[in-house]
Amino acid sequence: MVHEMRPEDVLKVSETEQACFSDPWSLETIKEGIENPFDTWLVLEEDGAVKGYCVFRIIAGEAELFRIAILPEYRGGGLAKKLMERLAEYSKEKAVISIFLEVRESNKTAINLYKSYGFEQEGIRKNYYQNPSENAVIMRNNLI
Ligand SMILES: CC(C)(COP(=O)(O)OP(=O)(O)OC[C@H]1O[C@@H](n2cnc3c(N)ncnc32)[C@H](O)[C@@H]1OP(=O)(O)O)[C@@H](O)C(=O)NCCC(=O)NCCS
Repeated sequence: MVHEMRPEDVLKVSETEQACFSDPWSLETIKEGIENPFDTWLVLEEDGAVKGYCVFRIIAGEAELFRIAILPEYRGGGLAKKLMERLAEYSKEKAVISIFLEVRESNKTAINLYKSYGFEQEGIRKNYYQNPSENAVIMRNNLI
């Protein structure tokens, strides 16, 4: 089941963040994120366990996917696709015309996932990431 993040999910989302990223967001950032009316945090929960989440922002017909993560033990089973489907649904409902994102250049798994949803490389931001330093690939999906 995919549902919007509730206050009681914040800790589990933070643990997922810690398990999935070398430069994780703090618990405080996640807690505050829930207050932002432009941001949507979706939690993927099965059998009472939080297995992954994503967060995106929709403003003025444009969506930005900030994070998508599935706990390592649940990867490879199509769970990220469930979250991507929901991003597509929200985008349709809010008349989004373009979705973009940044991803580490070495993150071929995520790049494959995004390509399978029609995202294409738009550019590179040199040394955009830290811990470790790395280029970001900017990807975009023009929905119309
Ligand atoms: C990227 C991530 C979310 C994918 O989650 P997942 O649940 O394992 O992905 P799915 O099983 O739904 O696979 C979806 C697609 O991703 C790609 N993919 C998934 N695992 C892959 C792998 N090991 N190698 C290459 N491509 C892969 C494929 O395109 C796959 O589609 P397919 O099964 O039809 O070939 C997960 O690996 C993750 O949490 N990584 C760490 C966090 C991260 O890097 N997030 C992205 C940047 S914010």
